[in-house]
Amino acid sequence: MLEKLIKITFACLFLSVTGGFLVSSAAHAADGPQLVDVHKAKGYTCVDCHGEGQKKAVAKEKCQSCHGTYEALAKKTAEFEPNPHYNHAIDIDCGRCHHMHEASVIYCQTCHAGLTFVKEKAK
Ligand code: HEC
Ligand code: HEC
Ligand code: HEC
Ligand code: HEC
Repeated sequence: MLEKLIKITFACLFLSVTGGFLVSSAAHAADGPQLVDVHKAKGYTCVDCHGEGQKKAVAKEKCQSCHGTYEALAKKTAEFEPNPHYNHAIDIDCGRCHHMHEASVIYCQTCHAGLTFVKEKAK
């Protein structure tokens, strides 16, 4: 267990550049392309996530109506160690990690300092 977390920490620098995820929460909100832009490029508009009412945080059920269950997502990220969509903290809100209008974060770091998701194939 300790060995695994150390390995994860060492890969941290690499992923902080390529993974689209912030390793620290201190970066600026407007840096880099945002996840909402990926959705806009697919032709989706504000209404597809926010509905017609007031714009506020989006429940994971909304995300899952397009992206499927955590089980389905876990298959797509099976090459990551640990799997961001299958671990002891599953079924949390997507927004713990993915942000649409600012850089994403790794929620797990609130307990595991330095944890990041290592793509096995990229090693
Ligand atoms: C109306 C359908 C729809 C909704 C709602 C939606 N998405 Fe997406 N999302 C897509 C499509 C289509 C893509 C592009 C294809 C893909 O990667 O699955 C995408 C891409 C993504 C990606 C991959 C981006 C990349 O760089 O490849 C992530 C992460 C993501 N969505 C997360 C979310 C989260 C979190 C929510 C909820 C806040 C959400 N999506 C809501 C349709 C949707
Ligand atoms: C613990 C953090 C975390 C949570 C919570 C999380 N994700 Fe992810 N997600 C990741 C990471 C890390 C990746 C892989 C790197 C990337 O694609 O940015 C990823 C990748 C994705 C992708 C791209 C998959 C592909 O085809 O390569 C989608 C779509 C996605 N997540 C949707 C969701 C949705 C929807 C939820 C909520 C039901 C969710 N995620 C919850 C961290 C998380
Ligand atoms: C793919 C889903 C998605 C799309 C499309 C989207 N948003 Fe969002 N929006 C979110 C999520 C999720 C949040 C929660 C904060 C975050 O993740 O950045 C949010 C937060 C917001 C907030 C802040 C609400 C608060 O209480 O902090 C505003 C304002 C907003 N969106 C406006 C828009 C507008 C305007 C558009 C269209 C140009 C849009 N959004 C398109 C998912 C989306
Ligand atoms: C609230 C605190 C907390 C959060 C948040 C958290 N963890 Fe943990 N995690 C723990 C504790 C406590 C352990 C057990 C430590 C031990 O076994 O000594 C653990 C253990 C682990 C292990 C080792 C399990 C093993 O069998 O070797 C992994 C991998 C892990 N967590 C990944 C994650 C991931 C990925 C996330 C984010 C999705 C996350 N954790 C979020 C507290 C947390």
